[in-house]
Amino acid sequence: MTAKLFTPMRVGTLELSNRIVIAPMCQYSADDGCMTDWHTIHLGHLALSGAALLTIEATAVKPEGRITYRDVGLYSDECEAAMRDVLESVRRWSDMPIAIQLAHAGRKASSDVPWKGGAQIPPSHPDGWQTEAPSAVPFRDDHNAPVALDRDGLARVRDAFADAAARSARLGIDVVQIHAAHGYLLHEFLSPLSNRREDEYGGSLENRMRFPLEVFDAVRSAFAERPVTVRVSGTDWADGGWTIEETVAFAKALEARGCDGVHVSSGGLASGQKVPVGPSYQVPLARAVKAATRMPVAAVGLITEFEQAEAIVGTGDADFVALARTILYDPRWPWHAAAHFGVRVKAPNQYLRSQPMHHRDLFSTPSED
Ligand SMILES: Cc1cc2nc3c(=O)[nH]c(=O)nc-3n(C[C@H](O)[C@H](O)[C@H](O)COP(=O)(O)O)c2cc1C
Repeated sequence: MTAKLFTPMRVGTLELSNRIVIAPMCQYSADDGCMTDWHTIHLGHLALSGAALLTIEATAVKPEGRITYRDVGLYSDECEAAMRDVLESVRRWSDMPIAIQLAHAGRKASSDVPWKGGAQIPPSHPDGWQTEAPSAVPFRDDHNAPVALDRDGLARVRDAFADAAARSARLGIDVVQIHAAHGYLLHEFLSPLSNRREDEYGGSLENRMRFPLEVFDAVRSAFAERPVTVRVSGTDWADGGWTIEETVAFAKALEARGCDGVHVSSGGLASGQKVPVGPSYQVPLARAVKAATRMPVAAVGLITEFEQAEAIVGTGDADFVALARTILYDPRWPWHAAAHFGVRVKAPNQYLRSQPMHHRDLFSTPSED
């Protein structure tokens, strides 16, 4: 019996060869929003992993939308040119489809890189800036408060998402994933804890969803026929916050507007969140979205074992498993999973001689496709 993990599945117009996707992971290694040779190394080696899809890290649609001053952006010709160089190198050696996560960090922008503590940087510092959000409510009481976006500000953010989607299309990127999770700008609109607006963008669920849905529509039309997916937090894990029921309603609204898939993560919005971290801890959230929609759904979060991943897609809790830390730690995880299940996986010609003695039929080469 073939492992479901290694069966193909379509996401919109794109056929993916298996159910393992690489989750977006910020590298904090860009210069002024421009990718560097670190990205060639990082994305290049993940592109040889045998996963079905490689997702480029949270990529800011505006400079103020970067989490840190070292984040990747796609808001200028310079950013686009730098990304083109990286993609050309990666694509020369891998045909793995590539997604990009388009993002705006909202009130969680202007932070330091994690290995320097990740604290908020004040606007007066050369590496900091004034943050913007739905309401002037800071993430933590001791933070500089964001400025509430006015109508012009909303239009600028929406247009920036559309522009970055158009740049992504020009770069030949296969999938755009809109970042509406982890307490960043679009999630801040969704959650009543961060959205205190009194206009048509705040209050009821319909109003809180309005701006994220407008951004979706703008990206959808800028990215033409190609798949557009959305990453959501399934819950804030905090009293009075965004819930799984609201997530399901949001997913249905997205589906009705032509969304091609939902990637279900959680948390990140409330500094006092209580997250029940453990293996597969976010899978029940993915399951709830999957049960209520017909779109492909990805589950993520502490999925580390082959049988665990197979159980998630095999039982239909989700269609895809997304790996982040797991695949950084072991970039050949999909090869090992294929060996475990006795199926074939793609490997580059240069590495064919690494096929283990006990797995004589593990590798398919690019020419066999
Ligand atoms: C180094 C690192 C960078 C991350 N950057 C992003 C990001 O850019 N966008 C995002 O949505 N999630 C980001 N995440 C979260 C992961 O995509 C993933 O949801 C989370 O790590 C749980 O999956 P895991 O248990 O397989 O690591 C990041 C996680 C790590 C470890």
